[in-house]
Amino acid sequence: MSEGPLSYQSPGRVNLIGDHTDYTGGLVLPMAINRYTKITGTRTPSTIRLRSQNEPEPVEFELPISSPEKISPSWGRYVAGVAAEMRSHAHGFDGEISCTIPIGAGLSSSAALEVATALALGDTSTSVERAKLCQRAEFLSVGVPCGIMDQLTVTSGIRDHALLIDCHELTISPVQLPTDVKVVVQFIAERKLTSSGYSERVAQCNSAEQIVGPLRLADLSSLASISDLTVRRRARHVVSENQRVREFAAMLRTGDIKSAGKLMTESHNSLDHDFETSTPQMNSAVESAVAQPGVFGARMTGGGFGGCIVILADAAAKVDGWQVRAVDAASQID
Ligand code: GLA
Repeated sequence: MSEGPLSYQSPGRVNLIGDHTDYTGGLVLPMAINRYTKITGTRTPSTIRLRSQNEPEPVEFELPISSPEKISPSWGRYVAGVAAEMRSHAHGFDGEISCTIPIGAGLSSSAALEVATALALGDTSTSVERAKLCQRAEFLSVGVPCGIMDQLTVTSGIRDHALLIDCHELTISPVQLPTDVKVVVQFIAERKLTSSGYSERVAQCNSAEQIVGPLRLADLSSLASISDLTVRRRARHVVSENQRVREFAAMLRTGDIKSAGKLMTESHNSLDHDFETSTPQMNSAVESAVAQPGVFGARMTGGGFGGCIVILADAAAKVDGWQVRAVDAASQID
């Protein structure tokens, strides 16, 4: 089989509001951003050989692959997980990866690698199916029981829009971003979800659901029946965060950016106090950001335990960090 060079790219994502809600089927409001993972190369019959500009060692293996979690170097496990999930539909591929999404920063560099890989290996499914495939690949290859937000955002991004995603129904309502605001991301510290408290948080939400039923349907008053106070706080974050996402989307639509910004800061406080996924460094970055003129709100974004904060500001405000734009979904390019 011989074809000319093919190129595929996947954006990263930043989440404006709605963290640690996706794995209980809750609401999130992320956007795909203009930072990318790009894979360029040629199809092969059954060998996967990829070099990454960010990694010292290439990854190489033969299809079919049955134990992606054993692939070395470890970054290749994401690639192998996708190949394993695609089963006999995966082509081989020989190519180069370049990436402008900082790794371990909570901007979905792993989802971008998975989704760009799925495209390069010939996946032709829908954006929702591709996101589900890549979510399963992440669990299979690195054992993180992540929700669907990251993968679905990068397979479904829409230029100039955030995406209101119902992670139970897997429905997406685009929300246009006002032109007079900007979204800025500040990098705080590198972290790995595999060695963070992420899986423990997922388990605590499961425990809460054993008592009160699906958190996406629960109201705050029902949480009093959870006797473990830590689990109760985790549940309180999820239930209140779902409500904030609903309100935030409505405020963006009506242009009430000041109130939307306040909700971001409330979301941060909930992630800090009730969900305990923030860090002192992230808290002080949020505090200094919101004290600046023209800033409407700021919060930690993504899984937390490090990573980035996201800031919503007036387009004319001077704010440190990377200004990001909402972009279209992962696709073949060139
Ligand atoms: C990580 C996971 C997502 C989501 C966020 C927190 O990014 O991959 O599924 O749970 O954390 O909102």
